[in-house]
Amino acid sequence: MVGTRRSWLQCLALALTLQLSVIAGEFFKPFNVSYDHRALIIDGKRRMLNSAGIHYPRATPEMWPDLIAKSKEGGADVIQTYTFWNGHEPVRGQYNFEGRYNLVKFVKLVGSRGLYLHLRIGPYVCAEWNFGGFPVWLRDVPGIVFRTDNAPFKDEMQRYVKKIVDLMREEMLFSWQGGPIIMLQIENEYGNMESSYGQKGKDYVKWAAKMATGLGAGVPWVMCKQVDAPGDVIDSCNEYYCDGYKPNSYKKPTLWTENWDGWYTEWGGTWPHRPAEDLAFAVARFFERGGSFQNYYMFFGGTNFGRTAGGPNYITSYDYDAPIDEYGLLRQPKWGHLKDLHDAIKLCEPALVAVDSPQYMKLGPKQEAHLYGTNVHSEGQTLTLSGKKSTCSAFLANIDEHNAAAVTFFGQVYTLPPWSVSILPDCRNTAFNTAKVGAQTSIKTTEFSSLLSTNVSVLRQLPSQVEVTYISKTWLTVKEPIGAWGEDNFTVQGILEHLNVTKDRSDYLWYMTRIYVSDDEISFWDENSVEPALTIHSMRDLVRIFINGKLIGSAAGHWVRVDQPVQLKQGYNDLVLLSETIGLQNYGAFLEKDGAGFKCPIKLTGFRNGDIDLSNSLWTYQVGLKGEFMKIYTIDENETAGWTDLTLDAIPSTFSWYKTYFDAPVGTEPVALNLESMGKGQAWVNGHHIGRYWTLVAPKDGCQEICDYRGTYNSDKCTTGCGKPTQIWYHVPRSWLQTSNNLLVLFEETGGNPFQISIQSHSTDTICAQVSESHHPPLRMWSHPDFVNGKISASELIPEMNLQCDDGYTISSIEFASYGTPGGSCQKFFRGNCHSPNSLSVVSQACQGRNSCCVGISNAVFGGDPCHGTVKTLVVEAKCVPSSTIGFSAVE
Ligand SMILES: *[C@@H]1O[C@H](CO)[C@@H](O)[C@H](O)[C@H]1NC(C)=O
Ligand SMILES: *[C@@H]1O[C@H](CO)[C@@H](O)[C@H](O)[C@H]1NC(C)=O
Ligand SMILES: *[C@@H]1O[C@H](CO)[C@@H](O)[C@H](O)[C@H]1NC(C)=O
Ligand SMILES: *[C@@H]1O[C@H](CO)[C@@H](O)[C@H](O)[C@H]1NC(C)=O
Ligand SMILES: *[C@@H]1O[C@H](CO)[C@@H](O)[C@H](O)[C@H]1NC(C)=O
Repeated sequence: MVGTRRSWLQCLALALTLQLSVIAGEFFKPFNVSYDHRALIIDGKRRMLNSAGIHYPRATPEMWPDLIAKSKEGGADVIQTYTFWNGHEPVRGQYNFEGRYNLVKFVKLVGSRGLYLHLRIGPYVCAEWNFGGFPVWLRDVPGIVFRTDNAPFKDEMQRYVKKIVDLMREEMLFSWQGGPIIMLQIENEYGNMESSYGQKGKDYVKWAAKMATGLGAGVPWVMCKQVDAPGDVIDSCNEYYCDGYKPNSYKKPTLWTENWDGWYTEWGGTWPHRPAEDLAFAVARFFERGGSFQNYYMFFGGTNFGRTAGGPNYITSYDYDAPIDEYGLLRQPKWGHLKDLHDAIKLCEPALVAVDSPQYMKLGPKQEAHLYGTNVHSEGQTLTLSGKKSTCSAFLANIDEHNAAAVTFFGQVYTLPPWSVSILPDCRNTAFNTAKVGAQTSIKTTEFSSLLSTNVSVLRQLPSQVEVTYISKTWLTVKEPIGAWGEDNFTVQGILEHLNVTKDRSDYLWYMTRIYVSDDEISFWDENSVEPALTIHSMRDLVRIFINGKLIGSAAGHWVRVDQPVQLKQGYNDLVLLSETIGLQNYGAFLEKDGAGFKCPIKLTGFRNGDIDLSNSLWTYQVGLKGEFMKIYTIDENETAGWTDLTLDAIPSTFSWYKTYFDAPVGTEPVALNLESMGKGQAWVNGHHIGRYWTLVAPKDGCQEICDYRGTYNSDKCTTGCGKPTQIWYHVPRSWLQTSNNLLVLFEETGGNPFQISIQSHSTDTICAQVSESHHPPLRMWSHPDFVNGKISASELIPEMNLQCDDGYTISSIEFASYGTPGGSCQKFFRGNCHSPNSLSVVSQACQGRNSCCVGISNAVFGGDPCHGTVKTLVVEAKCVPSSTIGFSAVE
């Protein structure tokens, strides 16, 4: 039973690799980075690079080491990040490089793991980040026009970019200093905006490139989406697919700075998902057709803590459907499928860098091959590799969206699923096909939107053993005053622009005025059945309207008209408008002119003598909330706020603060708050602002029951969450929690029920996998000495299934196992006509009680062939539980 023995040896090897990869690398010896038309040249060698996008402030410093390690384990060579000007310079001239903004620490961690770093300084970054990364004070610089040939802007931009470059150099973080930084970026997607600025835009591009390269950073610079990137600056591609991309000079390599592996989400929207098969297809096609550097935007998306979400209207989660989820756990099968892809590309790297361009072969109407090799001779159907110095790797692509194809490549027949690429590191054996997912699927405890993988639709309920834990039975409350609350309120004639007043110190700005209504007016309304109304010509992002202290209506939108019927009494009436921003604009030309709040006229209609224009009335202004400025969410807040016990009959109540103390869930897993019972507001834990929350419901329609990976992806193609609140789970980083007595404070605008707020650990609850006999053998075998020496051939090797729970978790039970022809999908598997009776015992023996396991896919492993002549598949569903709860630690 050679096959059996070999398969177990393979599984052993896997456990070893996982262990070894946890050991940290070291900083580098100094090396130079340059490029030619084929690739970046690192320390004298062309490299094929996969990069993982991680934005450091979207995680905590405590999370960084794990995120970087998981990126590396997933096959990343590079970490890419933007820098965030408004986080680093919140007040002009006062810099912040601490905590989540400790850029130096982040870069050093990347280097200590042996990964390179691509630093995209911007300083405009878009990034679905508040104001695209610009500090709001930048608007107030006299004479400023952003992102164009404007001296005040250029001065500020240069000062910040120089500050970052100098900091990196002082800390010895550039490659030639032995640091990890191999590449930088100036500006960001300016090509989309350039035409709005005419000649000045063109001059600005030239200035920006010259300014950046003049800073002596000593590594290449890129400008993404910038076809006119000047001189040495490399123009790069940001898209879902970049395999057709050609830079503007033959001297520059093809770089893909943003491979959109998912998409962001808006309040009231659905969740986009990009299938792993299509993502892998896009990456394989990119390297196939001459690409050399590819970055996942995002590899880890994370969280928009505080008020950092951009907008308008981007949610607090920036999960992005990334291979590492918002909480730092692997999103499977995406992460695992990409790891396999990266391993396959790595096997091809010697051949890919050896030549200037691939050899093209048409294999069918929608099928083609690209071959990279040296000392390769092809004659008709034969391929000869001459000598030890020869290299040969090939990509076989089927771009047909509907049908599989059998193609002949040098005398051998290959079956290519629709919309897929097979990677042949030796021009003969398939190491990977983008449409064949061998990686496991993972379902998390907090997963609420339906799990979508290719051709699978699973409506999620909470897993059975997960109980709802209400965070507290006792709550305190205090009302937020409506209108002016502080000495710094002021009264002027007319409507001021929102940001001009708040300087974004708060989302909230109160506008208050008083209207006199005479007896005649009241009788006019009564006699003519007229109802007066308030109209606002245009407004963003949200307004709440109060008459005489009572909330009578709200409206939301982006520069929309508001018509609100109002009931006024005889005499003086207080009209209060609360203007709210929900993330400042992060995309578009002339951001400095965008502003927020109201555009005039603001009128009362339906009066006897016509409309009353309030645009030039006396208005009193108050920035922010009283509780916000008194910092009543901090731990040392000293009860002066007047908290009282919250009783059930007092809810729901608008404009209220709530607070309680709670114990953290046991364990070290990341934690999430379920705020589905609340309306809209903001939340703080132990004084840390965890973000805005809003239980806005997504449209009922537009989601897909089945996500078909085939064909060109767009962000509307595979969405989930229809008819449900967009976000209900909010990440509370572990490092912000202590064991007990954690302070939770919420500001609620519209009225929710804090008694129903629950808390839960976020971990992988269920894992499933599906691998067939026809799957390619494990990629590790390519480096096995017997394979390299030709002592074993690919046809002798068997595929295998790998299963793994999160760290500290153990496979407690096998819920389903069938070797044969099973059907269904994760959590809904069923047996087919063909089923090996040993399925469950073989899998249980290999997996139960372990953190990870591996099962070979062959008749020998399952003690015989359950159905001769049929391609068999192994399907497994398993449960993961904390190792501590089952009384023994995971067996390795
Ligand atoms: C990098 O390039 C510079 C300038 O050409 C050279 O002086 C230096 O020795 C190089 N460093 C390494 C490590 O090759
Ligand atoms: C999707 O599933 C159906 C039934 O489960 C199957 O017939 C079909 O071939 C699958 N399609 C793809 C693209 O895998
Ligand atoms: C508003 O400000 C004025 C001074 O400008 C002050 O006298 C008044 O008390 C303030 N109102 C509130 C409610 O604090
Ligand atoms: C903001 O205030 C400045 C002066 O402080 C003024 O020049 C500018 O027009 C204001 N912007 C808007 C949009 O009202
Ligand atoms: C309590 O709060 C009040 C008002 O914010 C402040 O003046 C006072 O110094 C605080 N006292 C302590 C002990 O923190």
